Amino acid sequence: MARVGLLTGGGDCPGLNAVIRAAVRRGLADGGHSFVGFRYGWAGLLEDDALELTLESTAGILPRGGTILGTSRTNPFAKGRDGLGKIRRTLESRGVDALIPIGGEDTLGAALRLHSEGIPVVGVPKTIDNDLAGTDMTFGFQTAVQIVTDAVDRLHTTAESHNRVIVVEVMGRHAGWIATHAGIAGGADAILVPERPFDIEEVCARLRRRHERGRSFSIVVVAEGATPREGTLQTREGTATDAFGHARLGGIGTLLEREIESHTGYETRVTILGHVQRGGTPVAFDRVLATRFGVAAMDAIAAGRFGTMVALRGTEIIEVDLEEALREPKLLDPALYETAELFFG
Ligand code: F6P
Repeated sequence: MARVGLLTGGGDCPGLNAVIRAAVRRGLADGGHSFVGFRYGWAGLLEDDALELTLESTAGILPRGGTILGTSRTNPFAKGRDGLGKIRRTLESRGVDALIPIGGEDTLGAALRLHSEGIPVVGVPKTIDNDLAGTDMTFGFQTAVQIVTDAVDRLHTTAESHNRVIVVEVMGRHAGWIATHAGIAGGADAILVPERPFDIEEVCARLRRRHERGRSFSIVVVAEGATPREGTLQTREGTATDAFGHARLGGIGTLLEREIESHTGYETRVTILGHVQRGGTPVAFDRVLATRFGVAAMDAIAAGRFGTMVALRGTEIIEVDLEEALREPKLLDPALYETAELFFG
């Protein structure tokens, strides 16, 4: 019987608690596995900060947003940290046989490195951005799409009342999955995504055509990672980065607000949805996916299939090679974007 360590790393995501609950329930049902939860991502392993996960301590958490373990963007392999040594010592002193890190590219990247050092891991993919390869979908994504769609519906009525253009900035660092899904669901008039650098003149021409046809308002959904086509617009790069060296994004919506208003003369406002997209209770789809991932991760541990990541392929839960899954981000399907474009302008 194994003693299993769990941790949640990176940005939080609705459904994390459902994964924790499911892994624990599966392990207990199997007879005798025990669980320890490390607090605040890799920081919990570095600092030996942990709590026992039991039937009681994981009861009632299925619909709760956030993570009972806390999370952080701590990079265990940051210079001068002796991360590997500290993690080995914590695992040994707590008698942990295998780890289930629940996270995105950075958390799972660290997990892969531990696997290559002989520490048994099974990853669970997590990101509201839905940009992890190897899985058709990550939990949290559907919740984020629903939150953005609700916001776009609300922004529609105020945009229409005031004859305004409203720019809605949403999450999506490398990929425009949230922007495109919510943009289609909410009937956006333009969707700007990281995969397709935009030309401000083209965006404005589209809005003008729409307004010339008698519409007096427009909704533009922009992913935070969207960029202008080279040489077209000057963006201001922020300097803040996280422990993995990623720039803190945000600001493209504000730039668009200014540029659209000055190019078209239409009154324009920006709404930055930010972390509201990650907060609160997961929608039913994400609860189910997270539960299936938690159960599958425990099954992989019990069977000794390490260095893997559980994933959704079609309607099936499968295991994929962790290294393979992390090679490239999963970018937007061009066919999906073309469908969205049919409704622009
Ligand atoms: O983890 C994904 C994500 O939600 C990105 O879309 C966003 O850029 C980032 O997290 C925000 O991170 P933080 O919580 O550190 O501001």
